[in-house]
Amino acid sequence: MCGIIGYKGKRNVKDVLISCLQMLEYRGYDSSGLAVIKNNKIRVTKCVGRIENLKEKVSRYDFDNSVCGIAHTRWATHGKVSEENSHPHRVGNVVLVHNGVIENYKEIEDLLIKKYKFKSETDSERICALIDSFYNGNNELEAIEKATSMLKGSYSLGIMFEGKNKIYGIKKDTPLVLGIGNKEFFLASDICALLPYTKEFIILDDNEIVEIGDNFNIYYDGIIIYKKIETADYDVEEAMKNGYEHFMLKEINEQIDISRKLYSKYITNENINDLIIDLDKYKRIDFVGCGSAYNASLVAKYFIDKYCTNGEFYANCYASSEYRYMNHYFDKNVLVVFLSQSGETADTLACLRMCNEEGIDTVAIVNVISSTMAREAKYVLPMLAGPEICVATTKGYFSQSYICSLLVLKVMYKRKIINREELTRILEDFNKLPKYIDEVINKDYKIIADSIYKNKDIYYIGRGIDIYTCYEASLKLKEISYIHSECFASGELKHGPIALISKRTPVIALLSEFSVCEKTINNICEAKARGAKIITIRKESINIDKNLSDYDIVVPLVSEFVQSILIIIACQMLSYEVAKLRKCDIDKPRNLSKSVTVE
Ligand code: AGP
Repeated sequence: MCGIIGYKGKRNVKDVLISCLQMLEYRGYDSSGLAVIKNNKIRVTKCVGRIENLKEKVSRYDFDNSVCGIAHTRWATHGKVSEENSHPHRVGNVVLVHNGVIENYKEIEDLLIKKYKFKSETDSERICALIDSFYNGNNELEAIEKATSMLKGSYSLGIMFEGKNKIYGIKKDTPLVLGIGNKEFFLASDICALLPYTKEFIILDDNEIVEIGDNFNIYYDGIIIYKKIETADYDVEEAMKNGYEHFMLKEINEQIDISRKLYSKYITNENINDLIIDLDKYKRIDFVGCGSAYNASLVAKYFIDKYCTNGEFYANCYASSEYRYMNHYFDKNVLVVFLSQSGETADTLACLRMCNEEGIDTVAIVNVISSTMAREAKYVLPMLAGPEICVATTKGYFSQSYICSLLVLKVMYKRKIINREELTRILEDFNKLPKYIDEVINKDYKIIADSIYKNKDIYYIGRGIDIYTCYEASLKLKEISYIHSECFASGELKHGPIALISKRTPVIALLSEFSVCEKTINNICEAKARGAKIITIRKESINIDKNLSDYDIVVPLVSEFVQSILIIIACQMLSYEVAKLRKCDIDKPRNLSKSVTVE
């Protein structure tokens, strides 16, 4: 996902642009650039690699006394990673930065190919040329409106025109905010980039054009409109590492406090608040999300399958990229729950809009409350996780799982599958989580990581709820250590995957499902007999022979509705230590982007 910054104000423009770009590094990128206006001339500087490279390159020029500028971090979609393909793009009198994907860019190119010679492979340069083709030297707003009305797809744009000391912004389907400082104004893809300068911002809606000069105006259909000024619900410290070596380690530790925040938000007097949703209305919940968000929903489905057995209530889980293209049977008894940390993931947002068009009740379990999903879903359940900077989610997954468990418990209580005292007892364990999380985080993972970090393949196995936890555990390991990892239902090992086991292949077995733990132990023995290195992560009531595993992590025994949350934290910590030994870029893994706002 690309990042956009714009600035006009009294500070050093180049320095502000660079510092805000650095706050967007977490989104993942492969090149960056900036353009500033000085003495009525726009200078564009861009390069591949880290922002440090851009800093070095701009240090060769005198950018002092620049009036305003735009900047960009690129996560390549159209065209390879190269300087020509990086932003800002300049065509004629127009300079532009873009986040999103234009689906009809070839059509646009065909319209312009006679007039323009394109230097890059990007859809973004085609947008720039299209705006220039409508620009007559004095009709900035009209040129932007005409050009963007021809675009199909998603875009957030920062735009400047040669000789004009102004910045323009417009968006459709990808986020863009106007930051408001003291006689200074910003444009950004994410408010967190602006926190060192301001917490005040306006969220732009689709096809609104912001014009930033000595003041700002927002136009819709050529008319100036007035919008509410929001205040960010967290400050820059929360978006910084605060002494931790990596954001990931900080965010794993933040799960302690987040569990307190979630408890006080959603549980009152040992009862689950009404979650704003009348759950009696529904017979089916569809959970929809991508990646870890999808994985979080699997645990909810597991409990619904396990306890809502009279056929009167059931749940499905779907990856958003599949859900949006499937045939669906919808009726008023269906509730669709969207999970998304960023609230901007393109496939998930498309599914939300599909359901809204069908008139289906929708819930968004999101972390970014100013996000598009938070504003378009019928109901919102805030994740309260604070800004998640590490691309690989930990506290985001934790919060989604926590809320999904409460949702399921609410359904079970309202359908009298559990009674008052059972619910009270379960919720007591939600209340004890902070202490238990701290205990799990502080176990010794380094010794295990040291014995497996050089392996090329590492497998997770489990049964029942543990297989769903394995999904997320294996994804986490892949994402940040680049080790090939897969997960299998442990009973499936002998039906093929065991062929992958050779001497010292690490097999990590999750053991929290008491009813089938003996079976899982048998499967562990099968792997061990083939030379596997066995690591067990188990809840304390499940006992194993001390010779069964090479390494053994025991987590406190809690209600099954939060047991997997403790188990996954052990897996997060193990992945973190492995990635650290492999000297990976833990917070910004290669090829990954924090929020995938492209399909
Ligand atoms: C990052 O660790 C996740 N693995 C990634 O899959 C993420 O969960 C997915 O991209 C969805 O993001 P969202 O929660 O912001 O929608």
